[in-house]
Amino acid sequence: MTNFDISDRFIFGDGKSRLLGVFGDPIAHSLSPKIHNLSLARLDLNYHYLPFHVRPHELAAALNGFKALGGLGFNATVPHKVPLVSLVDNLDPAALKIGAVNTVAIDDNGICSGYNTDAYGFITALREKYNDNLSRKNILLLGAGGACRAVLLALLDEGADTIILANRTVKNATDLANDFNHLYPDANITPIPLDFSNLQLSKIDILVNTTSLGLHGKDSFPLAVEQLPPHTFVYDIVYSANQDTPLQKLTEAQGLAFIDGLGMLIHQAARAFHIWTGETMPVDLVKKHIFGK
Ligand code: ATR
Repeated sequence: MTNFDISDRFIFGDGKSRLLGVFGDPIAHSLSPKIHNLSLARLDLNYHYLPFHVRPHELAAALNGFKALGGLGFNATVPHKVPLVSLVDNLDPAALKIGAVNTVAIDDNGICSGYNTDAYGFITALREKYNDNLSRKNILLLGAGGACRAVLLALLDEGADTIILANRTVKNATDLANDFNHLYPDANITPIPLDFSNLQLSKIDILVNTTSLGLHGKDSFPLAVEQLPPHTFVYDIVYSANQDTPLQKLTEAQGLAFIDGLGMLIHQAARAFHIWTGETMPVDLVKKHIFGK
């Protein structure tokens, strides 16, 4: 897979090797071990990153066990991001506002700091392809779940001020809009029901999908993309290695600019990597060798 030498130390470890990992349930699908181990090997850093299948009732025990083993840090995925908020010793501002932790760093005294790098991953990937000011752009955000909270925070911190939040369960959108209207009083966040046949699309500048619709490739995505203006930028935070998402197919057929969730996935990992190691993840190498991009 790689065209560079991997040191013996990386392959076998030594007395100074440190442990990193990812906790999830399920976990087998996680691409994080590949992303991090490739980066660690490339930079010849003496850490190893493993997937851990941690069931919800074992999360606190897993955290303590990991700490006892001298682990340096771990990522968290479904369903552990929210429960970790009350298990760590302190939270960074993003984790606090989002209400979810996707990265934990453990210091030499066993103090656990919880971070959320999803908002950073989202906005960094957006900025690779979209340079305009976000202020006064009409942004349509589909969803109101955990991922949506990170996306909303990222957009607001980047200057967005006009956001329509469309969700199947409108109460979830209303609760989320209330939370963030309170945190960002100058922003205008409007919750509406996700009714595809009635969405007003003709003035939308940026459309972001954070729902799990299309996640498995089989759902249809009944969006009237032909009603979007030609300059609309579409961002589906879903990433599917094997096929285009339904929203991607629709958007690209319409000739609109589009990005999927691959950049977000890699950049949230890069931020965690930097928190643990102080080093910069070789993002282009990861894109090329793991994702063929
Ligand atoms: P995540 O952490 O990935 O955001 P989540 O918190 O379970 O996952 O949120 C999933 C989001 O996808 C929610 O906005 C959900 O809408 P509800 O709040 O109504 O549950 C949305 N979603 C899931 N399946 C959907 C579907 N078939 N059609 C539309 N929205 C859907």
